[in-house]
Amino acid sequence: MKKKGLFISFEGIDGSGKTTQVKRLGQSLRDKGYELVTVREPGGTPVAEKIRELLLDARNDGICPRTEAFLYAAARAQLVTEVINPALTEGRVVIADRYLDSTLAYQGYGRGLDTRFLEQLNRLAVAGTVPDLTIILDISPVEGMVRRSDSCPDRLEREGLQFQEAVRAGYLSLSRQYPERIKVVDAMQPPEQVYAEIVALVTPFLAQLAEAGV
Ligand code: TMP
Repeated sequence: MKKKGLFISFEGIDGSGKTTQVKRLGQSLRDKGYELVTVREPGGTPVAEKIRELLLDARNDGICPRTEAFLYAAARAQLVTEVINPALTEGRVVIADRYLDSTLAYQGYGRGLDTRFLEQLNRLAVAGTVPDLTIILDISPVEGMVRRSDSCPDRLEREGLQFQEAVRAGYLSLSRQYPERIKVVDAMQPPEQVYAEIVALVTPFLAQLAEAGV
């Protein structure tokens, strides 16, 4: 597959404000005339949405960490094949609310699975489709908990602050391992400022896309 589009993923612990920022960026790019596809993980295809239900259902408290990792990877493989790769081939901009770094942060740093194994699993799942840019919205787990306090917590959100702290540390470690691809934005700032920093990170990639004549 020859990739022509632009692939941006957003990451962060639960309550980091990703979904709001993804919506806002998506709307702004659509208004500017970009051919845009937004996806959220796990999910985005009929099969992947079924896997999402399994994974997030708070009653499924018996799911072991390895099963969890395989299910997230399975949902990702389906999404890449059905939605992300075709969109990129057509030259579209794809924005993902979570992608492969979530598995490294949650199942690796959070659950304690071997990150080398998870890297291999991810490689199998995405078959070479890695984001051009990944933006981590970084907040403290306490602030994340406050921000999502009104919602009904899913299976992962029921994990305590210590789990979210490990996931956050995992994200920061990933940003140091892949500094070219992964950028961190301080999401403790007011949303307007967070959005301005996101736009500043995304703009050069849009310019490259325009130069490439896509
Ligand atoms: P969401 O709340 O952002 O929709 O994400 C669903 C939950 O799934 C969230 O708690 C993070 C978790 N998750 C993983 O543990 N591993 C993964 O690979 C992905 C994509 C999400």
